[in-house]
Amino acid sequence: MKATMDKLVNLCKGRGIIYPGSEIYGGMGNTWDYGPVGVEIKNNIKRAWWKRFVQESENSYGVDAAILMNSRVWEASGHTTSFSDPKMDCKFCKTRHRADNLIEAHSKGKVNPDTMTNEEMEAYIREHHVTCPKCGKSDFTPIRTFNLMFETSRGVTEEGQNTIYLRPETAQGEFVNFLNVQRTTRAKVPFGIGQIGKAFRNEITPGNFIFRTIEFEQMEHQWFCKKGTDGEWYDYFKKAAWDFLVDLGFDPEHLRYKDHDKLAHYAKAACDIQYLFPIGWSELNGIHNRTDYDLSRHAEFSGKNMEYTDPVTGEKYVPYVIEYSIGADRLMLAALTEAYDEETLDNGETRVVMHFNPAIAAYKAAVLPLQKNLSEGARALYKKLSKSFMCTYDEAGSIGKRYRRQDEIGTPFCVTVDFDTEKDNTVTVRDRDSMEQIRISADKLEEYIAEKIKF
Ligand code: GAP
Repeated sequence: MKATMDKLVNLCKGRGIIYPGSEIYGGMGNTWDYGPVGVEIKNNIKRAWWKRFVQESENSYGVDAAILMNSRVWEASGHTTSFSDPKMDCKFCKTRHRADNLIEAHSKGKVNPDTMTNEEMEAYIREHHVTCPKCGKSDFTPIRTFNLMFETSRGVTEEGQNTIYLRPETAQGEFVNFLNVQRTTRAKVPFGIGQIGKAFRNEITPGNFIFRTIEFEQMEHQWFCKKGTDGEWYDYFKKAAWDFLVDLGFDPEHLRYKDHDKLAHYAKAACDIQYLFPIGWSELNGIHNRTDYDLSRHAEFSGKNMEYTDPVTGEKYVPYVIEYSIGADRLMLAALTEAYDEETLDNGETRVVMHFNPAIAAYKAAVLPLQKNLSEGARALYKKLSKSFMCTYDEAGSIGKRYRRQDEIGTPFCVTVDFDTEKDNTVTVRDRDSMEQIRISADKLEEYIAEKIKF
């Protein structure tokens, strides 16, 4: 793989994919804004996920729940008490770190802090003289736990304000709507609820571009099934999550399963699919067997009966849940990493090219007049194609330079309008990956492109 984080950050900034957040004010740590190209890619990623896990799954339904939820939701889910990271401050330079990250970095991944208690982590850091990544000293405060939920308040007067939270995961919006969805769709267990939306976490050590941010989007799918079938469905979603990535174009050599050593408070089994990011093997998505924990807790805290009644046997039970969760931004970073390539051309020049699956490329085609005096016909073609796909138009600079610009953002097809177009209504179509060109009738273009961008 040829991508480094620096190369990706520079390319993204220079080509309108992702910019640093609030940049003209000096930025705002670990926030990023998607530009004109980036927003298209991310939307396409979300669309591909939705198509696979909601549209094509006969028994799955979508929701778009509120970000701000009744605070009792987070008490029921356990987030107000258990959603925290072990933080330590460097006494010398006052920077804040996660104890588990310090241990992982120091041991180069050989020691797994997930299986350690806070006391064991403190002892390890002391005994191995783990140093502060900022100043190199080894003098830390004891571990304190730090809740990751962002708080805000709701109320009209200062006195009457209630603390509410920006949701740290979208999943709870699916759980609290379990009965609504089941009743309104008359869904029979097993069935799924999928959602895409923003989540917020006051991460102590965010970073690595869009890998870990404080505001991000999640694509989550909860599969409600009967206890006893949960193991089977867990395996099913492990495979479905893997297949989705491979179908998007990921090399299986760059993916691996990793079982969790320490299970979250709600989980019976959990694993990640890791991807070989420029920072090394790291979590891309998670598959969790959440048992009946969430629905049972919401039943307890809300006082509402969350049982499902089997329409055939009349049996009542609280379903188990298999969750598949993936960050849209993290998948975007993985897709950028996977797509990035530098090729040496016959003339010795280097071409940077993003080999995205055409389904997620920002623009499906770039329409390029060979010369400016062909722009009228080229613009008309661009307008026509834009009714069917996201396209771009470029008449600035040599045709070679325009091809390079499109290669760098991964546009799968460059359509050139030349003097023959005026005579016989044909255009050349250049393939991004092979750089080969074919000549086809402009009337066949839509059909040609539609076939290639199917997912
Ligand atoms: N509902 C379960 C849940 O939220 P998680 O493992 O904490 O599980 C799921 O998060 C996915 O969300 C991760 O695999 C990752 O892709 C993404 N994610 C989590 N925290 C993130 C962050 N701070 N920035 C970007 N993506 C994040």
